[in-house]
Amino acid sequence: MALSTPETSAADALPQAAVDTVVVVDFGSQTAQLIVRRLRELNVYSELVAHDAPWERIAALQPRGIILSGGPASVFDPGAPQLPEWVLGSGLPVLGICYGMQSLVRALGGDVRREGHPEYGPATVEVLDDTGVLAHLPTRMDVWMSHGDSIAAAPPGWQVLAASPITPIAAATNGRLSGVLFHPEVVHTRDGTQLLRNFLYGVCGCTGNWTSANFVEQSVADIRAKVGEYGRVLCALSGGVDSSVAAVLVHRAVGERLTCVFVDNGLLREGEAEQVVRTFRESFGIQLVHADASERFLENLSGVTDPERKRKIIGETFIRVFEAEAKNHGPFQFLAQGTLYPDVIESATGDTKTAHKIKTHHNVGGLPDDMQFTLVEPLRHLFKDEVRQAGRALDLPEAVINRQPFPGPGLAVRCLGALTDARLATLRGADAIVRAEIEAAGLDGAIWQYFAVLLPVESTGVMGDGRTYAQAIAIRAVTSEDAMTADWARIPFDVLARLSNRIVNEVPGVNRVVYDITSKPPATIEWE
Ligand code: XMP
Repeated sequence: MALSTPETSAADALPQAAVDTVVVVDFGSQTAQLIVRRLRELNVYSELVAHDAPWERIAALQPRGIILSGGPASVFDPGAPQLPEWVLGSGLPVLGICYGMQSLVRALGGDVRREGHPEYGPATVEVLDDTGVLAHLPTRMDVWMSHGDSIAAAPPGWQVLAASPITPIAAATNGRLSGVLFHPEVVHTRDGTQLLRNFLYGVCGCTGNWTSANFVEQSVADIRAKVGEYGRVLCALSGGVDSSVAAVLVHRAVGERLTCVFVDNGLLREGEAEQVVRTFRESFGIQLVHADASERFLENLSGVTDPERKRKIIGETFIRVFEAEAKNHGPFQFLAQGTLYPDVIESATGDTKTAHKIKTHHNVGGLPDDMQFTLVEPLRHLFKDEVRQAGRALDLPEAVINRQPFPGPGLAVRCLGALTDARLATLRGADAIVRAEIEAAGLDGAIWQYFAVLLPVESTGVMGDGRTYAQAIAIRAVTSEDAMTADWARIPFDVLARLSNRIVNEVPGVNRVVYDITSKPPATIEWE
């Protein structure tokens, strides 16, 4: 799938002058976003830009260099993405990767050939000259190749830096402009990070000033400028890391002109509401409205068993409660949200997303049109790990920073069947044990999500001298990189034994515990 590229307007852009930036031109490679991440990991700010974006948009970012991503096309295909004129016109250092190299070489009069040997997968290249982007690299380099066309001659004045047995020109340069036919951004290219570091620091002259402390400072200045001296900001706080970091940033910028609304939907885990209130109201001194709407949510959900109806009701009730609180405590001109960079990129691929909708994900997105706010989205350029780093720079507690993902509809999608106070209490009790035991066993860092699910079945058991007919709890624990795919966590048997033992002994009404051993796909992480 080719990624569409989000709009970046001058108004959205971070104040760039103070932070070194290198843009990545998106030619449709699956790894274009990964290049951006790698550059940020090397402390250089980076954004993905469309290959047909106008120069003004790029110029607003004041880049120090340009990387051209790979892509699925051949430069000979009709309609293949063109090298933007501004790439060579800007006079900036350029690194072309795979398709990016081919289009660069072709534009400068080199010879790209369709014949020759395609190369896919691992390969070894010989470094002929360890200068420029190949400085400090070993003579033989393990790389990841993925190209159909090859390069028969580099442009006039270029020097060949590396070759593979199949590809005589695997890397070449004229100093300011370079190209590599392999992918330095993927882990299979062992010294790829050093290659990117060479480009950023050796060729572009970056200083590595993209740090969380700098981000916080700039972001606070940015929010102040946007909100002005008198603007008031509303923020829906869920207790998750994104909305928490967004809230604390906005609070640093505008102080008590920020009001956070924490909607307690009665579907939270044990101790969660108290923790959110304690952290934000008491530790950070943020004006926090604790809207305890649990009864209203449970009333609206009464008797509902269909998962999608549950989600819809929760989404709608959330909006009504939030709307009422906004009115009570308003007026507000601004709404702060914890939108992240991958959401921004993904929402640009609207067509593929709706086609594959599996579950309705409920967020604050669906606010009614008559609530008109200007959005403040301080995290819209950040990846999740950068949000966590910013959270640390803001002194947020580790419990918030490392909180595992928790769905907006909360325990509703883990309490299969109808929701009642009693069933939610059972689930909460079991879930607290799962969390406590996994954490006590030191497994929490390695597991993406771990929780209990209350099943809509009863089964026979024997306790003491009598038979029981009681409820069953499923334990779900998965490892994952991004929640798109997941595998069940290989929790040691003795930990599972402790979990099961404690749940049946300590949670009234439960006589059976099962462990979910399904990966995603085919199952999803949540049971509903
Ligand atoms: P699934 O169950 O689809 O979940 O494998 C993938 C990730 O998304 C979370 N999730 C949700 N998050 N609203 C949310 O905000 C939802 O309705 C929702 N459903 C699932 C889930 O916890 C996992 O991290």
